[in-house]
Amino acid sequence: MKRVITYGTFDLLHYGHINLLRRAKALGDYLIVACSTDEFNVRQKNKKSYFTYEQRKELLEAVRYVDLVIPEEDWDQKVNDIREYHADYFVIGDDWKGKFDYLEKEGCKVIYLPRTPEISTSRIKKDIQS
Ligand code: CTP
Repeated sequence: MKRVITYGTFDLLHYGHINLLRRAKALGDYLIVACSTDEFNVRQKNKKSYFTYEQRKELLEAVRYVDLVIPEEDWDQKVNDIREYHADYFVIGDDWKGKFDYLEKEGCKVIYLPRTPEISTSRIKKDIQS
């Protein structure tokens, strides 16, 4: 069984996220999503999500492509996660291109998927405010 792991905040779940999750799952048989916790978002990513971690986790669990949701609490947990969950593929959008190549050392293939154009959580927030 091939396992795929991906990371992100996934706030205000939108079709760009779904496209990413669908393509990630298609690479293997089991998709793990590490969803950024509220604390990690505020302290490390400098963003406050609209939905709480528990709400974002529930939404992700309702997506047919997602098999397991785990918390992302630290930038440096990826190596441990890849080992613990025996991930064969590490997948993320190409806004992160080149940033996680070092994970290949774990025997995990790193894949940057093209982002879906024109949609993002920040854009939704901005458009709703205007
Ligand atoms: N993603 C994507 N296409 C989009 C938006 C996001 O493929 N249009 C991917 C990201 O590259 C990442 C995952 O979805 O791999 C989670 O992205 P996240 O940062 O949570 O979503 P964004 O909409 O980019 O949020 P923000 O605007 O806050 O950066």
